Amino acid sequence: MSVTFTVHDTLAEAPDAVRADVWALVLEADDAFWPPLRARTPEQGLSVGAGEVLDAKPDAYWTSIQQHALISAAEDGRVLGMMSVARDKRLDALELTVAAYLSTLIVAESARGRGLARQLYARLFELAQSWSAEPSVATRTWSTNAAHLPLIAQLGFEERLRLKDDRGVGIDTVYFVKPL
Ligand SMILES: CC(C)(COP(=O)(O)OP(=O)(O)OC[C@H]1O[C@@H](n2cnc3c(N)ncnc32)[C@H](O)[C@@H]1OP(=O)(O)O)[C@@H](O)C(=O)NCCC(=O)NCCS
Repeated sequence: MSVTFTVHDTLAEAPDAVRADVWALVLEADDAFWPPLRARTPEQGLSVGAGEVLDAKPDAYWTSIQQHALISAAEDGRVLGMMSVARDKRLDALELTVAAYLSTLIVAESARGRGLARQLYARLFELAQSWSAEPSVATRTWSTNAAHLPLIAQLGFEERLRLKDDRGVGIDTVYFVKPL
């Protein structure tokens, strides 16, 4: 079965079945993030150590990405991968506004290593180009994310800012930008 990629204007407006699959992906991948998505504030800030939040579900994060565009990768009617993308996003830390800011990237554990993330990025770049005549794309991740960092480097992103120990001792937040 081939994989189908779809762009939805916002996560909020995606069909219920797609939203349910994306929520399942968020729950499955929650602990793969550092800090976990359920420990993020509504503004997607990082609140490592907020114990009561760690007992909950990632509702605040889910709410925060509702108005972001959604790129889904589906096979056999099931969403296996997703990107949430903010349009014309101001990044105060970089003193920069980018056409597209990748806020979440998740591929289901069962579908990893098949090139889905790479193909989602290709759709992201097309989306940014449709949004702006001079687009650039940004994302940020944590410095120990061994799966995502090699892909970011291969795709030609430039490291723009590193916030040392931002996510705990020895775990930096790293911002990347790619002009298209
Ligand atoms: C990061 C993630 C999206 C990668 O998805 P994927 O579909 O398995 O990635 P792909 O198959 O497209 O791999 C593309 C490249 O990423 C890198 N990569 C992917 N998984 C890797 C791993 N486990 N270790 C090292 N490199 C890896 C490789 O460079 C790979 O290229 P190659 O296959 O030519 O070697 C997936 O592991 C994931 O959802 N992780 C949990 C959530 C997360 O970390 N999201 C990003 C947060 S900022």
